[in-house]
Amino acid sequence: MYQAPRGTSDILPGEQVYWGYIRQKASAICALYGYQRIDTPTFEDARLFERSIGEETDIVEKEMYTFEDRSGDRLTLRPEGTASVCRAYVEHGMHTLPQPVRLYYDAAIFRYERPQAGRYRQHHQFGVEALGDGDPALDAEVIEMAWQFYVNLGLRGLSLNLNSIGCNSCRPAYLDSLRDYYSQHRESLCPDCKRRLSRNPLRILDCKKPSCIPFSERAPRSIDYLCRECAEHFDRLERYLVLLNLPYVVNHSLVRGLDYYTKTVFEIAPEGEIAAQATIGAGGRYDDLIEQLGGKPTPAIGFATGIERLVRNLKKQKVAVPANPSHAVFIAYLGQDAKDVAMKLASHLRNSGLSVALTFGDRSLKAQLKQANSTGVQRAVIIGDDEVRSGAVMLRDMDKGEQEMIPLDKVAEVLSQVVA
Ligand code: HAM
Repeated sequence: MYQAPRGTSDILPGEQVYWGYIRQKASAICALYGYQRIDTPTFEDARLFERSIGEETDIVEKEMYTFEDRSGDRLTLRPEGTASVCRAYVEHGMHTLPQPVRLYYDAAIFRYERPQAGRYRQHHQFGVEALGDGDPALDAEVIEMAWQFYVNLGLRGLSLNLNSIGCNSCRPAYLDSLRDYYSQHRESLCPDCKRRLSRNPLRILDCKKPSCIPFSERAPRSIDYLCRECAEHFDRLERYLVLLNLPYVVNHSLVRGLDYYTKTVFEIAPEGEIAAQATIGAGGRYDDLIEQLGGKPTPAIGFATGIERLVRNLKKQKVAVPANPSHAVFIAYLGQDAKDVAMKLASHLRNSGLSVALTFGDRSLKAQLKQANSTGVQRAVIIGDDEVRSGAVMLRDMDKGEQEMIPLDKVAEVLSQVVA
């Protein structure tokens, strides 16, 4: 028996109410903030992600699905959305459009992770990117949009963590001081962090291992090392967040797992979720990335949210989502002649815009009506031999249990008046 590959799942019809609800809220918030949809290929040149995310990140070192195609090109299934959007921005000369260019996506993401609740090998992200503006007001707007999206979904108990990790000019001094600090505690660090010490000390701050957490709490703080420009940017961002009434906490250990970030980084988590998989949405500024990919210097910021994690939290918080619309009409029939009439009527009603269910095979009328009941239809049309002969059918109001005979050629007209 085949099963879905480890870390992937089928999104069955019963789950789709959540997905439809989230996607509807996502496109509504994008319309409010002026974001337009972009779709990029599922796979890209592997080097795009290696350069963007960083060679020394967990994603590039251990998690990418990279393969050679039949012509020997090295391709990677997208492990995140930002790099592809930046590639498209450069490739299509979007710097000539009014800036910032505001884009959103909703896409499958692939990471070879250890599957557990809230962490999958294929997950889906709704993400937004605002490209071409360095103003901290844009950071505040993007953070507000993320926050408002979760509020509109009905999620409660949200917390917003914020930090600034500086830029290429101020970060090296900070990294030196982190290296100095952690070197003094080298023996107590986990094996991964020992390795990170020389190559990527920022990531130690983010380590969730119990051996490393206490050291991170006392580690040097990035905001104490910001250059004037980055410090000013952070001050102004904080002022805008206060102006917009967004409650935030400055978290000095927040560094993110992708190397392209500069200045602002943020994460949003709902109440009561477990640490590593708690974050429902995260993002930040990446002012150097587009230039690094061959474009003109273009400051940018964005965030992405994991849809599976949203579904999980909507369920956990028992948020009521609108049910899947059921069929409006069920046609039940008895006998071959009635079946012909039923099929023709179903086709006619569907062409007039009514959703119709009927079953095939030789089920009893009782079984068909039982099914009509369980599918929650408002009206059933019942056709038997008598009805075929008389050219009239029985119309049953499923809630009230009342029924009446109506001429076959009036069914569409009557139904379109009575069903929603
Ligand atoms: P990320 O933090 O790696 O950021 O992922 C964004 C969100 O995707 C996470 O907060 C989480 O909700 C979800 N997520 C990540 N990995 C998994 C997984 N294995 N299983 C389930 N859900 C997951 C980025 O990808 C950046 N591109 C975000 C960004 C956009 N920054 C700027 N613009």
